[in-house]
Amino acid sequence: MYKSYYKIKEINNIYKLIKDGIFLIELGCYPGGWSKYIKKYKNKHLKIDIKNIYSKKNFIKGNFYSNKVYKKIFFFSNYNKADLIISDLCPKISKIKFQNKIIFENLLKKIISFSEFFLKKNGNLIFKSMEYNNINILKNFFSYFKKVYKKKLKFTKKSSSEIFYICKDFLYEY
Ligand SMILES: C[S@@+](CC[C@H](N)C(=O)[O-])C[C@H]1O[C@@H](n2cnc3c(N)ncnc32)[C@H](O)[C@@H]1O
Repeated sequence: MYKSYYKIKEINNIYKLIKDGIFLIELGCYPGGWSKYIKKYKNKHLKIDIKNIYSKKNFIKGNFYSNKVYKKIFFFSNYNKADLIISDLCPKISKIKFQNKIIFENLLKKIISFSEFFLKKNGNLIFKSMEYNNINILKNFFSYFKKVYKKKLKFTKKSSSEIFYICKDFLYEY
């Protein structure tokens, strides 16, 4: 079993945001650990990744932030917004900490913009980031939600700066 399976399980055991009957969008689904966990629930699950996955059902291949993918999501969802967006997106990182900081800040901005399009009011977001995010960008990000929790997981290596944000009750309506 992928380590990522246990990470999403750990998050869901606490926050219980993945459940039956919801529409969920998963960003960065390859190779499929999270999807395997989500399969236990009866929900509408749309998966997105630049890499191909084995089962193409409910899957969109491409850059999550491209017009092409946006159009496909609208088509798939029939213009309905998601109850939950989960992101394990990991852009290519370098050994230079400063560069990674910029990479993850840009990712954060893209995730917010994506949420404005595809997340329901009062919907929830779970996403992976790195500890060294710019505090001002984070503050702006937090203002979109009623509550944000920061969680370092048991299954994340102690030396890693990987961190998960669990954001509840999206306040924005596009
Ligand atoms: C850590 S992996 C995800 C693992 C997955 N959660 C699992 O449980 O198997 C990160 C994924 O993000 C994808 N990714 C990175 N940037 C992306 C982008 N801009 N658009 C779509 N997928 C992207 C990568 O291709 C990679 O498969």
